[in-house]
Amino acid sequence: MAKIGKDVPLAASLLEKGEVVAIPTETVYGLAANAFNDQAVAKIFEVKNRPATNPLIVHIGNKNQLDDLIAFIPENAKLLMQAFWPGPLTLLLPKKEIVSDLVTAGHKTVAVRMPAHPLLQELLEIIPFPLTAPSANPFTYISPTSVEHVAKQIGDKIPYILDGGDCEKGVESTIVGFNEAGEAVLYRLGAIPTEAIEAVLNSPLKTIENQTATPAPGMHKLHYSPSTPLFIVHEFEKHFKNYEKEKIGAIVLDDFLKDIPTKNQYLLSGNKDLEKAANQLYKALHFLDNLNLEAIFIKKFEASGLGKTLNDRLHRAGKELV
Ligand code: TXA
Ligand code: MG
Repeated sequence: MAKIGKDVPLAASLLEKGEVVAIPTETVYGLAANAFNDQAVAKIFEVKNRPATNPLIVHIGNKNQLDDLIAFIPENAKLLMQAFWPGPLTLLLPKKEIVSDLVTAGHKTVAVRMPAHPLLQELLEIIPFPLTAPSANPFTYISPTSVEHVAKQIGDKIPYILDGGDCEKGVESTIVGFNEAGEAVLYRLGAIPTEAIEAVLNSPLKTIENQTATPAPGMHKLHYSPSTPLFIVHEFEKHFKNYEKEKIGAIVLDDFLKDIPTKNQYLLSGNKDLEKAANQLYKALHFLDNLNLEAIFIKKFEASGLGKTLNDRLHRAGKELV
């Protein structure tokens, strides 16, 4: 079983030896390895049971590390780095030779981000290499936002979990790439709302649908699923009648429902705060998935700001009912 602690030098020495270590980030917990050590990177795919066709994000501690990794930085990428790094924005940029095909799954671009979590920043400062890390969940399961989630999901397969407390954002980074004209293209909705990115660029983000390049391999459907069926509804009540009330659960935004037991409900925010809801959504899914229910219900969010990100994750995790 993995040791759990806040020992940054221990995490560093394990990573230097080519081990994988679970690390806290401001979005979700990651499963990290030395990005320049292919054998270590291969262990990530093994532990996660992740197909080798799904590329990884490289995490850096400072912008100087880009010189080693990136062949060319478009002007729009520079603007976004200035506005959002360190923070939950991942950029797809043309890679240099040294970045291995294992990390990028053969792509000519590499995904990079500079995380904002202080303990991870400490770690990145003392190791002489960047860390490649996907979310620390088994492939297709819900991303972990706490040490307990990581320990339960993959604790028996790794030596150490660096304990940075509960993740602040609770959903993964937003991913942006660039087309040949240098225009920004949205690859994954995430912790930074598209509106904030568009305000910095002063133009709308392109979507991958209207690009000719290969789409993000990681946009797998069913990427964030609990084992219990999850239903996304527009109204709760009309869907409950097919079930025994004791056997269903609900994730609610701002108030408990009267129809089903309160112990089967998870309150995301209490006051319609979408940042709080994002922070709690995966926790809610982990919690309700452990209750052995027949179904979990959640109401679709309003489609703006973080609401779009939350709806995106819900659609990957469950099925919409009309
Ligand atoms: O917040 C986050 O981004 C977390 C934390 C740990 O940093 N990481 C994360 O990694 O969510 P992962 O591996 O679960 O998701 C990364 C996504 C995948 O969907 C992957 O396919 C996509 O990024 N990706 C990585 N490199 C890419 C590339 N070169 N081109 C297109 N998509 C890429
Ligand atoms: Mg993931």
